[in-house]
Amino acid sequence: MIEARRVYKEYVMGKVTLQVLKGVSLQIDTGAFVAIVGPSGAGKSTLLHLLAGLDTPTSGEVRWDEHVVSRLSDRKRAEFRNRTLGIVFQFYHLLPELSAVENVMLPSLVRGARNSHALREQATACLKQVGLAQRVRHKPRELSGGEQQRVAIARALINEPKLLLCDEPTGNLDSKTGAEVIELLVGLHQRNRVGLVVVTHQMKLAESADQTIVLEDGRVVDHEGVHAQKGKR
Ligand SMILES: Nc1ncnc2c1ncn2[C@@H]1O[C@H](COP(=O)(O)OP(=O)(O)O)[C@@H](O)[C@H]1O
Ligand SMILES: [Mg+2]
Repeated sequence: MIEARRVYKEYVMGKVTLQVLKGVSLQIDTGAFVAIVGPSGAGKSTLLHLLAGLDTPTSGEVRWDEHVVSRLSDRKRAEFRNRTLGIVFQFYHLLPELSAVENVMLPSLVRGARNSHALREQATACLKQVGLAQRVRHKPRELSGGEQQRVAIARALINEPKLLLCDEPTGNLDSKTGAEVIELLVGLHQRNRVGLVVVTHQMKLAESADQTIVLEDGRVVDHEGVHAQKGKR
């Protein structure tokens, strides 16, 4: 489980202090499907980065199970993230010199796996899961935006994460391609039982989530819970 307890985040910019998160509390169960929505500038990306342990709150706590994230050493934090979380960004952040399959292998290599035939097979299987069996050797520039995002999703899957954290994964895609990527993510959640936390503007996605968190001006203004939503299905 991932939990935020009274999380504040501020950025000091010269003489101005920007309050971005103003006391966010929430719980995300392992295996849940949670949508985070809200206007641009509300603090959604900031929150996702904190939940992922890529940054630390100014005050308050982010917890992964019983661990307070900011109290973990950098090494432990990286290890937990690598082992437990898959992260997908709006801009795919693929390495341009590497092929699709090599990009997918990367988190495993970072984790200390050997660059073996078995790992390549596993990465190929991840690409197959996202519908890219025919694009294994392509470089990012030889792929469409939607395909690049699929590679990024496959890369997020390589270490078999418990939870996928996605920041506007369709934000850079046309609506049809975006809808396909969403279908893929929801399918992965349903088939692989991987938890899914998605920052999105796509109302359709938000509606099919177990839980929708509405963030406005650094605060959770609405929190439609698991039980209310499940009843509607
Ligand atoms: N590293 C940073 N330094 C200073 N201000 C930042 C930084 N990151 C984000 N902000 C500011 O925090 C606010 C929230 O940003 P963000 O979390 O990206 O919002 P959202 O993802 O909801 O659009 C914005 O006003 C943004 O300019
Ligand atoms: Mg954002």
